Amino acid sequence: MKIYKVGVVGCGNIASNYDKYAKEFALTHLGGYKKHPQTEVTAICDINKTALISCAKCWKVNNYYTTIKDLLENHELDIISVATPYETHYKIVRQIIEIKKPKAIFCEKPITNNLIDARNLIRLCEENNIILVINHQRRYDRIHELIKERLFYLIGDIQKLTFWYSGGIINSGSHLFDILRFHFGDIAWIQADFSNYDSELDLDILIKFKSGLKGSILSCASNNFSIFEMDLLGAKARFDLIDKHMNEYDYRYFLKEEHELGPLLINKSEIPLSEKLPRDHFVRAISDIIQCIETNKKPISAGEDAYKALEAITASIVSAQNKGKRIYIPLKQEYLREDIKLPKIIGEFKKWEKKN
Ligand SMILES: NC(=O)c1ccc[n+]([C@@H]2O[C@H](COP(=O)([O-])OP(=O)(O)OC[C@H]3O[C@@H](n4cnc5c(N)ncnc54)[C@H](O)[C@@H]3O)[C@@H](O)[C@H]2O)c1
Repeated sequence: MKIYKVGVVGCGNIASNYDKYAKEFALTHLGGYKKHPQTEVTAICDINKTALISCAKCWKVNNYYTTIKDLLENHELDIISVATPYETHYKIVRQIIEIKKPKAIFCEKPITNNLIDARNLIRLCEENNIILVINHQRRYDRIHELIKERLFYLIGDIQKLTFWYSGGIINSGSHLFDILRFHFGDIAWIQADFSNYDSELDLDILIKFKSGLKGSILSCASNNFSIFEMDLLGAKARFDLIDKHMNEYDYRYFLKEEHELGPLLINKSEIPLSEKLPRDHFVRAISDIIQCIETNKKPISAGEDAYKALEAITASIVSAQNKGKRIYIPLKQEYLREDIKLPKIIGEFKKWEKKN
């Protein structure tokens, strides 16, 4: 069995720290690589020495560096994770490729902070024959695969969807647009409005998919509680997937039943998704990366999908800035500019951590 040598750039929350909340499955890049039978973390890198040393100690990694140059010049790496803030992703990927090309790059979401850089990042990887996987982790979660496989059986023909989210349209939006595309295909248009919260870019959105399906995406104040919930209304049932902190889930399932005054939706405690699922999404993402390296297949969470999630975030912001103007996707050339870029954010979880 081939063992792949891994390097991790960025040693913060998603690279390492979130694993302190891990129960059944890995919640970080280092946690995933440590658990995967075919990967070995050779070296790590962070410009912040405190974060670097704490991560090296936690995961017992002997080789650690404060520059990407040292990381790459001292080791032959097959896979490199880029787990730094999104505004650095393009520059870091470019730097990696200039020094020494790995076989694959596992990059955090959003892919970058603007569509031009995202396009260039994807092209750079393609031209250099490097597999690019973006960590829209729900694509690797068995629960979403199962819902996709069983959606018609669960609810019948879908009528409408409502998505509730907190944490801003950048942080949570990248995941929510990606998982909506995973289930319902490409987006046709978006209309958005600013919410009243004083936090980072909370938007309320009306969305239409190319399939004709319409839905609403509603933001909630993250200082009340965290929410990430997909509520689907079909011809015969309503299914509500409630995503909790650190990838735990609840469900609500309401099935149509005949009543003397006409059919009603009745809450069912027994839901048809209750079996135990192998939900180790980081480990499954790493297996996908290895399969892509070995068989040249397309990744489950490809750069192109992440581009489309970023395009939907950008369309939402442009729409809200233009009083809810309907923005069609793919975005017109006029919106593909380097100055149309996502602002920096501190992230819902950091705010949550500060309060507790
Ligand atoms: N997939 C998910 O569910 C998920 C969850 C959280 C964060 N994220 C994403 O992961 C990325 C990082 O978020 P985080 O919360 O882990 O941030 P963080 O601030 O906790 O960690 C980022 C680390 O990168 C380091 N860094 C910054 N620039 C660097 C550079 N040029 N070279 C080396 N190291 C550098 C910082 O010093 C820091 O330690 C963001 O894009 C965020 O959106 C994804």
